[in-house]
Amino acid sequence: MTADLLLTHFNQVFCPKDLGHPLFGEEMKEAQVLENGYIAVKDGKILAVGSGEPDASLIGPDTKIQSYEGKIATPGLIDCHTHLVYGGSREHEFAKKLAGVPYLEILAQGGGILSTVRATREASFDTLYDKSKRLLDYMLLHGVTTVEAKSGYGLDWETEKRQLDVVGALDHDHEIDLVSTFMAAHAVPPEYKGRSQEYLELIVEEMLPRVKAENLAEFCDIFCEKGVFTADESRYLLSKAKEMGFKLRIHADEIESIGGVDVAAELGATSAEHLMMATDEGIRKMAEAKVIGNLLPATTFSLMEDTYAPARKMLEAGMAITLTTDSNPGSCPTANLQFVMQLGCFMMRLTPVEVLNAVTINAAYSVNRQDKIGSFDTGKQADITILDAKNIDYPLYFFATNLTHQVYKAGKLVVDQGRIV
Ligand code: NIG
Ligand code: FE
Repeated sequence: MTADLLLTHFNQVFCPKDLGHPLFGEEMKEAQVLENGYIAVKDGKILAVGSGEPDASLIGPDTKIQSYEGKIATPGLIDCHTHLVYGGSREHEFAKKLAGVPYLEILAQGGGILSTVRATREASFDTLYDKSKRLLDYMLLHGVTTVEAKSGYGLDWETEKRQLDVVGALDHDHEIDLVSTFMAAHAVPPEYKGRSQEYLELIVEEMLPRVKAENLAEFCDIFCEKGVFTADESRYLLSKAKEMGFKLRIHADEIESIGGVDVAAELGATSAEHLMMATDEGIRKMAEAKVIGNLLPATTFSLMEDTYAPARKMLEAGMAITLTTDSNPGSCPTANLQFVMQLGCFMMRLTPVEVLNAVTINAAYSVNRQDKIGSFDTGKQADITILDAKNIDYPLYFFATNLTHQVYKAGKLVVDQGRIV
């Protein structure tokens, strides 16, 4: 079969292995790295990859051939944990943070997430759409082709739905594919202060059924944290969500370890997020239950903490991990997944291969899109990130600079030399 598009002469092509499950522990060390590689695309899908000169059978009269000396290619990068849609911004809290006021203290004072809730409730659909689209543009320019996006700055039905509608509209309109997560349990809304169980009942009885009926989200998430929701409350919400057919995520062990990880393991959550304070016992449970650890080192950086999630311990215990931005207005104001990947190396001592596996094949499993993306297996969508680098180590080593040269989404050129085309 001949290709529509043939990208040739990459210095290296990074090919993660799709073993039919996320890469666990030692498996994350492995990948196929094609020297002098090519990628053949047909009908927006991967037709073949290989080393050296492409087979003549791939080339027909209409095949467009493009050469990439001095560049590398990876499957389109996947940002599998973001709080994409919100009103306002929070730089007014920066001085407090710099002076050492803790994140949970700012939240307890009615700031933090609750400040963004006020701004999001006031923001129209169009305002939220435009702001989120801009963030997606930044992400695409950094080589990201799929993004998970959570609600959770409404904490009332009307605003939560508006956030989810923005995600749906942008999934349709933007080149980036979006995966939607319902997270009304991101904080206790001011109207329910001191009545968190009642708020969770409202979510369970009224919001979740509507999200399901209108097919607004695939995952359900909760912030299990001291001063926010307890492990028992998280268990209550997520078990109900599971009964209704949602896949599960949980923000756990971010600032304090209060049992969210046990809930994730018990209920078979797809992933547990953050895990900065994960204990040895928690790691063992997640490894056993095959809960993916979504790690967010730029959040640790931005919170100015020095406890990065114990990624190496997790791999030794046989866990599958991903790296992701957490892009949000408070604990991690960034859209740059490449910087997160570099923190994975510099602060967590992951290797470039482990990091690249984390943001491609493992991130695909984490957003339940493994059949479509995350590797260059024949038949997968031709989402391709091309970096200005001669080998796969370089983009992890040369930090805080956007090295994206081009991005293809489903075989279509969508970023070319720093611009969206
Ligand atoms: O993942 N931890 C809870 N939620 C976000 C922060 C959101 C915010 O501060 O606005 C997080 O860190
Ligand atoms: Fe988060």
